[in-house]
This record gives sequence, C-alpha cells and structure tokens, in this order.
Amino acid sequence: MIVGVPKEIKRDEYRVAILPVGVQELVRAGHRVLLEEGAGLGSGLADADYQHAGAEMVADHAEVFARAEMIVKVKEPLAPEWPLLRSGQIVFTYFHFAADRRLTEAVLASGITAAAYETLRDERGQLPLLTPMSEVAGRMSIQEGAKYLERPQMGRGILLGGVPGVAPAHITILGGGIVGANAAKVAAGFGADICLLDINMDRLRYLDDVMPPNVDVLFSDRYIIREQLSRADLVIGAVLIPGAKAPRLIEREDLGLMKPGSVIIDVAIDQGGCVETSRPTTHSEPTYMVDEVLHYCVTNMPGAVGRTSTYALCNVTLPWVLAIANRGIERAADELPPVAHSINIIGGEVTNEAVARTFGLPYSKRLEKK
Ligand SMILES: NC(=O)c1ccc[n+]([C@@H]2O[C@H](COP(=O)([O-])OP(=O)(O)OC[C@H]3O[C@@H](n4cnc5c(N)ncnc54)[C@H](O)[C@@H]3O)[C@@H](O)[C@H]2O)c1
Repeated sequence: MIVGVPKEIKRDEYRVAILPVGVQELVRAGHRVLLEEGAGLGSGLADADYQHAGAEMVADHAEVFARAEMIVKVKEPLAPEWPLLRSGQIVFTYFHFAADRRLTEAVLASGITAAAYETLRDERGQLPLLTPMSEVAGRMSIQEGAKYLERPQMGRGILLGGVPGVAPAHITILGGGIVGANAAKVAAGFGADICLLDINMDRLRYLDDVMPPNVDVLFSDRYIIREQLSRADLVIGAVLIPGAKAPRLIEREDLGLMKPGSVIIDVAIDQGGCVETSRPTTHSEPTYMVDEVLHYCVTNMPGAVGRTSTYALCNVTLPWVLAIANRGIERAADELPPVAHSINIIGGEVTNEAVARTFGLPYSKRLEKK
C-alpha cells in the first residue's frame, strides 16, 4: 500500500503522524511511504531521518493526497484539504465528527473511508488512541498551572511545592480519570497539597490505593467543590461523561469563593469545559481573567509539546497503521473489531451510530456485526 503522511496545517499543531521507525516498519512490510517535506520539523524530526528510514519525500501537500492510498494524519482534514480527499482512500486520524457538521458532510461527499483514532475501541472497551493525549494534557496541566501561578503571568505568586516554613499550593483536581490521575501524580511530585475528586466509587477506591500521601481522594459533590474552591490556588478541570458535553461543576458565582490570582486550567474545554466562564483559547493566547481568576482553556494542549506528543501518539497508532496497510481496510475491519469501531464513515455512509444521531443522518449497519 502507498501510505501518505502530510504536514499538519492546523495552527499551533506541531505533531506528525509517523516516526522514522514507523516508516522503517512499513517499508519492511513491503509498503511505500510518502512524507511531505518538513512534516516532522515541529517535533524535531528532520527529513533526513525519514529518508534514511526509507520514506520518499514529497514537496507538495496536495501530491501526498493525490498519490497515497492511505493517509495517516494527526488532526481532522481542514477545509482546504477537503477537495484533496479521493473516493476509496483511507484516512486514519483524529476526526471528532460530532463537533463539526461541515467536516462530516465533506467526508461523506468525498467517498473516503474515515477511520478515527478516537473511536478505535479495544476488547476491554477502552480507547487506546485517546489515552496518551490525556496523559500528556494531565501532566502538562500542572506545568502550565505552575507557570500561570507566577506573579508576572498574573497569578498569585505561589510556588507549587512551597519551601521549608511556607505552605505548598493547594490544588483541586475535578475528575480522577486519565487526565486527573496524571495531573495528581505530577503535582504530588512537586510537593503540592492535592485534592482529587471523582464520582465513581470504584475509581476513588483505586486512586486511594495508588496515590501518594499528599493526594486526598474525595467524592465530588457541589458542597465539596465549593469548599475546595475557597482553598484552591490551582483548579484542574478533568471531568468527562463519555459522548456528552462536560458537566458544569463551577458556576460564575462560585468564582467569588476563589482567591484573587488563583488559576483554573479547564482541560475538559474540548468537551465544552466544566466551568461556566470557560471559553476555548489557543496556545498563542492561552489565558484570560474573569473576576480575578486566571482561566487557561487551550483545546489542543498536547500540540505545544509536539515532540513528546508525537512519540506518545505514534507508539500507539503504528500497530494499527500496519494492520490496516497489511490487510486493506475491508479485511482489517472484518478481522479486527477495533478497526471496525474506528470507521465512522465509509463510501458515503455513516457507520458510527453517535455521529449519525448527532446530525440526524442515516446509520449504516454494514460494519455492525463485527
Ligand atoms: N484540552 C486538551 O488538550 C485535552 C487533551 C486530552 C483530553 N482532554 C479532555 O479532558 C477530559 C478528561 O479526559 P480523560 O481522558 O481523563 O477522561 P476519563 O474518562 O479518563 O476521566 C473522566 C473522569 O471524570 C469523572 N467525572 C464525571 N463526572 C464527574 C463529576 N461530576 N465530578 C467529578 N468527576 C466526574 C469520571 O468518573 C471519570 O473518572 C475530557 O474532556 C477530554 O476530552 C482535553
């Protein structure tokens, strides 16, 4: 198969969808890899590294789409890329269709097979191609929080770990899933004083077992959240209700409980955010102030640490890229249920029930039995 890897064109996106080792593995399996020149530069990967691995470098973005049978990307195709999609072509990337009707319509019209990272579900019911980005965002949330608590960034002027004789920062983490647990782990390493809140008792029991002593694990309810807000220097929003908008746990009036210069990092902003005053921001302008509380609501946090994120993403995507390239999409979907789950649209039909329901489109059951 001819596998094409274009350079990402989305603003502030520094990731690339394949590592040189991935090229090597594909070539070893008998495939050809076309890589757009400079595709890896944002992640510190030079064209020469890819060439040594066996990639054919292509200067033109459109040419990658024109020649490849399978496109492997990071972000959803953007409007300028829609005319480049060819009927019968496989595109394997993050799509997040439910958030974008125009993208859904463009992909339906193109006739491609859209295999989405975010719906590739393994036999344990987990989403292994989403997990690494949540790990990155969770760990990064504390790094960003530490930075914005500094006075020149408009924060309270607090050092997370304190020093001997001075109390550490208090951090409240809403949601103890992948993002929340990774945030807690990093914050604990800084020596902060942390409360991690969730509503899932099994998850709370597990977290209580594994977290270090400076992390308290609490059941999340409105009373506890308001009590926490009055203590917190840093609040991390990390809740998720799968397939739904994030629950709103902090109302505007609650900001009055918080100390001036405290910081909210609403990681759940990509699902609408869990704070009433959250609105999406970018890496170029990540923060804004509401009622003296600094808000950070960047929707693609992993993009800023492109190198780490590229490695984390490619580690988990490569086996599936190989599986699809080796078998072709029909056989891969037939033999491997996770691949069938990843396919949202094929040949102009929606094969993901949630996407069909979101837009009132007909749902095709052609992959269902798998
Ligand atoms: N901004 C970014 O760049 C970025 C990157 C990665 C993930 N995310 C987002 O971060 C969010 C969390 O992702 P995740 O992978 O950790 O999800 P997850 O499913 O692993 O964890 C979510 C947790 O929230 C808990 N929860 C649900 N309702 C709650 C409530 N009312 N109070 C407290 N806890 C509650 C759940 O029980 C679960 O443990 C998602 O919205 C995800 O899309 C954002």
